[in-house]
Amino acid sequence: MCGIVGVLGDHEVAPLLVESLKRLEYRGYDSAGIATVDQGRLDRRRAVGKLVNLSDLLVHAPLTGKAGIGHTRWATHGAATVVNAHPHRAGRVAIVHNGIIENFKELRDELALDGYQPESQTDTETVALLTRRYMEQGASPREAAARTLARLHGAFALCFLFEGEDDLLIAARKGSPLAIGHGDGEMFVGSDAIALAPLTDRITYLEEGDRAEVTRAGAVIYDAQGRLANRAQTRIQIDSVRVEKGGYRHFMMKEIAEQPVVLADALRHYLSADRSGLRLPDEVDFTGVSRLVLVACGTANIACQVAKYWFEQLAGLPCDVDIASEFRYRDPVLDSASWAVFVSQSGETADTLAALRHAQDKVARTLAVVNVPTSSMAREAGLALPILAGIEVGVASTKAFTNQLLVLALLALKAGMDRGRLDAAAVAEHLASLNSLPGLMNHAVGLDDEIRVLANDLAKAQDVLFMGRGPMYPLALEGALKLKEISYIHAEGYASGELKHGPIALIDANVPVVVLAPRDALFEKTVSNMQEVMARHGKVVLLSDRAGLAQAGDGVWSGLAMPEVPALLAPILYAVPAQLLAYHTAVAKGTDVDQPRNLAKSVTVE
Ligand code: F6R
Repeated sequence: MCGIVGVLGDHEVAPLLVESLKRLEYRGYDSAGIATVDQGRLDRRRAVGKLVNLSDLLVHAPLTGKAGIGHTRWATHGAATVVNAHPHRAGRVAIVHNGIIENFKELRDELALDGYQPESQTDTETVALLTRRYMEQGASPREAAARTLARLHGAFALCFLFEGEDDLLIAARKGSPLAIGHGDGEMFVGSDAIALAPLTDRITYLEEGDRAEVTRAGAVIYDAQGRLANRAQTRIQIDSVRVEKGGYRHFMMKEIAEQPVVLADALRHYLSADRSGLRLPDEVDFTGVSRLVLVACGTANIACQVAKYWFEQLAGLPCDVDIASEFRYRDPVLDSASWAVFVSQSGETADTLAALRHAQDKVARTLAVVNVPTSSMAREAGLALPILAGIEVGVASTKAFTNQLLVLALLALKAGMDRGRLDAAAVAEHLASLNSLPGLMNHAVGLDDEIRVLANDLAKAQDVLFMGRGPMYPLALEGALKLKEISYIHAEGYASGELKHGPIALIDANVPVVVLAPRDALFEKTVSNMQEVMARHGKVVLLSDRAGLAQAGDGVWSGLAMPEVPALLAPILYAVPAQLLAYHTAVAKGTDVDQPRNLAKSVTVE
């Protein structure tokens, strides 16, 4: 959510800033801007819309200088206009910001009394104005930034650049991630290591409350109490942050196709060498755990909803699933015999991170199931389990979802063993099924052509419903979420048995209904609910295996033959056609698949 970059280079920085912003564009793409200092002179360029608009502007109105900051915006306060775009400048300071300044109104009123008026509707500009005021009262840039930061409430990552200072950036982190990159005689600041990957592999992650004074000689970091802090420098593997489309038209399609490989990677990581036993950290011991609370947002939350079926069926472990933004504000009942699990691709989602902090000390253990191993959640949870999906760039989550499901399934198996519900033989049998998944997923990815043809018709629909029973019910929610977020077609997911309690009123000959029906114990019941839809002329897309289609496929609008799969694992496999349906429908509609409107990949505001 908003991407920040800063560079103190040894040559022109504008191209580097734009290149880094390109790698951060997944965090927001409402507008973008950069500011540089050239021989003391501060200047900036800003443009609405995608980064390419800023690049075009820079062709006609270049910015010179070896020091600069840049920003790609996901609007919170104020529409996506040039005036609201970052960097915000006031007098001799320019800043870029990710997050929300909660007390900005109060500060704005205070500044107005002294004659400092904002130009924009943003909370961010208040920070620039406050710094300006302190500087005009005689403070040095360093002092002014420190005094400003002390006044701010909320969650933020900030980077300051000053007129007259060719060798100074001030970076600060409270609630939103920020990293410092170390070069040879050059220094960098970025929202994440991905942005800095082409520039350096030496990274220092700022901690909560840190303020860094960055010059080409290095970074001097102060902690929240203003004491000098010694933060470790880590080397990141540049390969692990390589983000290329690899011949695919969109990152989303590349990431859908990668699922068999990254699932196999995660299986290798979490299973014994002969693949018949679990290899989880010793701390993952469910003996004595009375209840599990799973907390996440969006697609990650849907993964939790699937996992609830597994924890209950395999381990008999009571399990609640919460939406992170609801969790901490509704006084959830937490006790010292419960575990709380936080699931997040980015590991930075503000609501999930806040929920994790809320649960710390109230439960026996907090566990983060994350894709980004250096993320805040990974660092703050009692225990972090990586899902090993590799970088996910497409805003719509795909491979992270299926790898989240895998890790949660392994945890459910472990809980089943620890609670005496599953013996080693039963676990080995489930693991054998899991080991077959990468191959089955390959087959599912192979449905691509068939789904592309179907999607051309689906793209004409105004509303699409998805339905499923048991663990396929959350998958129906996921199919609908994927479709609506990238194709902008209204879509809803329902438990098959719920349709007749209201939503069936929506069915007519124009409404496609995607039925997710692996041949499990509930197959017949799902088929009955499907018949109710067909009796009302709904256009059914039936996803089942060949035998399922032979048994129930008469009269459906379209049938997609899936590989046979053990019931428990069907949600992982059936995620693939659900994603492909959304993808090809969006492509047929011509929407921006990787960067759908109004969304951002990493949601670091509440
Ligand atoms: C949907 C999607 C979002 C994320 C949600 C949580 O395709 O990607 O719903 O799942 O914003 O993000 P993370 O997993 O990073 O916490």
